[in-house]
Amino acid sequence: MSGLLEVRGMSKRFGAVQAIERLDFEVKQGEILGIIGPNGAGKTTAINLISGVMRPDVGSITLAGEDVTGMRPDRLVRRGVVRTFQATTVYQERTVRENLRRGAFTTIYPGFWAAFLGTGSARAADRRTETTIGELLTWLGLGEVAEAEARNLPYGYQKVLGLGMALAARPRLAMLDEPAAGLSHDEAAHVADVIRRTNADGVSLIVVDHNMRFISRLCHRIVVLHHGTELATGTPQDVTRDPRVVDAYLGTVHDPA
Ligand SMILES: Nc1ncnc2c1ncn2[C@@H]1O[C@H](COP(=O)(O)OP(=O)(O)OP(=O)(O)O)[C@@H](O)[C@H]1O
Ligand SMILES: [Mg+2]
Repeated sequence: MSGLLEVRGMSKRFGAVQAIERLDFEVKQGEILGIIGPNGAGKTTAINLISGVMRPDVGSITLAGEDVTGMRPDRLVRRGVVRTFQATTVYQERTVRENLRRGAFTTIYPGFWAAFLGTGSARAADRRTETTIGELLTWLGLGEVAEAEARNLPYGYQKVLGLGMALAARPRLAMLDEPAAGLSHDEAAHVADVIRRTNADGVSLIVVDHNMRFISRLCHRIVVLHHGTELATGTPQDVTRDPRVVDAYLGTVHDPA
């Protein structure tokens, strides 16, 4: 597997807190990379930096050979980099279908002028969008609630919808911040299944969580973050056996559900 994303020497400080400290890791083309670590380890900050929400103080981020350090989120989305948020961020007053359309809009739509002039390419894009959404509804298991407003859905469905909005942009790299947090066992299994199928479809993923069992079952490799820096990287087997990881992290793990 060749490298898709490379993070080198990345640091970010907030006042007295060194949230990320000289962090190095890479995501290989076609892999699911887990990032795990206790509360405050810097997991969300790492995603914020890579997705362009914040700029690293130092260090570099390279996507398929291109330096994308500090690039704005909308430009990164056009390069196929999307992310989800730790809290659900679906449009509550909109239907499931409309939410997915918003997610798709960012990359499939060919631009303002085509829409303005009503050209064939805009109509083709509309058709493509609706096809993508139809496929996604099935893919996510949300077909039956397509016309329901997001606010009327159980939390687990809202979480899956948030994931679907990111996938609607047809990403190369999707970064998911705690996609199973707050979900029941069955809901988390469904999310894991959607993630696996998305990966099998050619999307590389970063999955952030603090549940070692969830991450171990899902990911090809795991980066363990501790105080903003990489403590260990390897296969799930390797990291769960690493004495440094057991000391720093597994000893304190609570709910392995
Ligand atoms: N915007 C910000 N301003 C100030 N401090 C921040 C900001 N974002 C994060 N931090 C601090 O940086 C550190 C890392 O936070 P981060 O949210 O990245 O951790 P996390 O690993 O995602 O934790 P959790 O598991 O609780 O989601 C924490 O000490 C946090 O308080
Ligand atoms: Mg977080």
